[in-house]
Amino acid sequence: MRVSDRKEEHLDITATQDVRSAHTTGLERYQLLPCALPEMALSDVSLRARFLGHELGAPLLISAMTGGTPRAADLNRRLAQAAQTLGLAMGLGSQRVALDDPQQMASFQVRDVAPDVLLFANLGAVQLNYGLGVDDCQRAVEAVSADALVLHLNALQEMIQPGGNTDFSGLLAKIEALCRQAPYPVIVKEVGWGITGETARRLQEAGVAAVDVAGSGGTSWSRVEGHRLESERERQVAIAFDDWGLPTAKALMQARDACPDLPLIASGGIATGVDVAKCLALGANLVGMARPLLLAALVSEEALHQQLEVTQRQLSIALFCTGSRTVADLVPERIYVRSAADGS
Ligand SMILES: Cc1cc2nc3c(=O)[nH]c(=O)nc-3n(C[C@H](O)[C@H](O)[C@H](O)COP(=O)(O)O)c2cc1C
Repeated sequence: MRVSDRKEEHLDITATQDVRSAHTTGLERYQLLPCALPEMALSDVSLRARFLGHELGAPLLISAMTGGTPRAADLNRRLAQAAQTLGLAMGLGSQRVALDDPQQMASFQVRDVAPDVLLFANLGAVQLNYGLGVDDCQRAVEAVSADALVLHLNALQEMIQPGGNTDFSGLLAKIEALCRQAPYPVIVKEVGWGITGETARRLQEAGVAAVDVAGSGGTSWSRVEGHRLESERERQVAIAFDDWGLPTAKALMQARDACPDLPLIASGGIATGVDVAKCLALGANLVGMARPLLLAALVSEEALHQQLEVTQRQLSIALFCTGSRTVADLVPERIYVRSAADGS
């Protein structure tokens, strides 16, 4: 099967099937502490944030999703326009298809509609074991004028996907070598099963500029790939992984504990601006959403804008109602773990 056909199937399956993880993000276990006396006006609240030296209108990332087909090209432009209007960061989907077939690179190019957006190029880290070199990474970044390269780690997806790349040996050393040579920041993310504190620490030591924990509780790629399997035997294999992964809240806290100073992105199952606020209080610098934004973008430009504006308004209200003027004020003291005594 051609990679572009697989990309189309991923879009169709994520748009039409229930591909959510069998468990939650864990964020529901946390509650922001309400401040009944915020002592400010709503207009005093600022969502402005900085990430990797870039000013953002809000600490929100449109997570990596697509590219490599005409529909993907339209979606990338729609997502990029929204990111430009609202001052958000954006990740492109894996550009491997365009390294193999340069004509496909146009479907990832969004700079003409998003000149100021903090933009991330994207490749699978495992490709470093299958012929991808430092020059290819440079090409992927330059071809889309990205500000950084995101390498995704997707071990379980590669195991379940027919013909997946199953050799993950020696990857950390290759990531380290890339970080040493690359003139741009390298970020590493998961795709929805989470990065543990220990792995985040090893990645930081290897020189990555940031980690996106991409925990579980949102889109499950074993479920997405499960829908593509033709063999009943392989479907039986995949189904055992429906609840696989480290939930987003736990992954984020582990990574923050292990790497106190590392820029961290929280993502995986983020549904509302209140989730975003909880992640910021738990130590994230930026918070990403993928599938909810894809579903909105597939409806219309207006639906996407509405989804993002609702998220931002929820975040502003969460800041106001915790007495936080800025996102930096959302410190761990503003969140607590719910217990049975808190009601259900
Ligand atoms: C249709 C689709 C395609 C995706 N493709 C990529 C990709 O190419 N590269 C990548 O790093 N992550 C990819 N992801 C994973 C997302 O960036 C994100 O980590 C994951 O979906 C969990 O976030 P969510 O629960 O908000 O959907 C994709 C997600 C979706 C929904």
